[in-house]
Amino acid sequence: MQSFGGDHTKRKLEALERYLDAFTTALSKQPLKLHYFDAFAGTGTVEISKSVVDAKRKAGQSSLIPEDDANAVIQGSATRALQTRHPFDRYNFVELDPRKIGALKDLLCGHERYDRCQFSQQDANAALLKWVGETEWSANRGIVFLDPMGGQVHWDTVDAIARTEAIDLWYLFPAFLCVDRQISRKGIVHPTAVQSLNRIFGGEHWRDQLIQREERRDLFDNPIQVNKKLSTPVKVTEIMISQMKSIFKGGVSDRWLPLGRGGSHWYSLLFACSNPSPKASKLALKLAREVLK
Ligand SMILES: C[S@@+](CC[C@H](N)C(=O)[O-])C[C@H]1O[C@@H](n2cnc3c(N)ncnc32)[C@H](O)[C@@H]1O
Repeated sequence: MQSFGGDHTKRKLEALERYLDAFTTALSKQPLKLHYFDAFAGTGTVEISKSVVDAKRKAGQSSLIPEDDANAVIQGSATRALQTRHPFDRYNFVELDPRKIGALKDLLCGHERYDRCQFSQQDANAALLKWVGETEWSANRGIVFLDPMGGQVHWDTVDAIARTEAIDLWYLFPAFLCVDRQISRKGIVHPTAVQSLNRIFGGEHWRDQLIQREERRDLFDNPIQVNKKLSTPVKVTEIMISQMKSIFKGGVSDRWLPLGRGGSHWYSLLFACSNPSPKASKLALKLAREVLK
């Protein structure tokens, strides 16, 4: 079991689950192979952090704790993916932590859809690039769920997904946690954070959009350059959406969910459709908008 959740975790997983169900239902009669790829699969269950539950109890809000939260355990993405009314043909579960992928395998062992599952202990980016490159996409469709805790997702991976023209992507983008928070109030970014931001955005163009260079005068009237921070979690999210729109031919949802503990905006749950077919992308974006309400 893994402990990191709160209400926002539940909200994220419910949105994913509803989309997976709608997707498999919509495509169940098509002559296509359907794939679910969970690149940060975890253990299959999520423990809602005790501090969240306790804080609610202290604030006299115990009636707001749903029954399963009171038990402090909810089903994770992998478990939910196996519960759709119509199955996927293949489930790919990737997780870097060997203990977690082992726990997930044990949990799902015996499930009626277990034979369709593949488990792999490796880095999400490497696993995705391999899978995307090896699959012949004309007869296959997929959903990829990127649910990192930090900035592990590389732009190259997002780009490879977009190029399949066959995958719908759900991306928990760490807009505050790994981008906005890395930029100080004075618009300074530590060199190690620059590398990480470059990987997330696929280049250094984020800098001009999130930090403004201004010319001012010092005490002796000499011109000096100072930085002004323009970044906010919302602006960071808008930049990522705009960048994704340039590569996802089926479009990117302008509706997204700000998520984070206690109502704070740490992450943004984003949806993108790589399929350029107007019929497919219209339906995908419509379903995504519904679940992102
Ligand atoms: C937020 S949790 C995922 C939770 C899961 N989606 C669920 O709903 O149960 C993020 C997971 O990513 C794993 N992880 C971290 N870095 C990774 C990487 N580079 N590749 C694959 N998994 C990674 C962590 O061990 C952790 O289990």
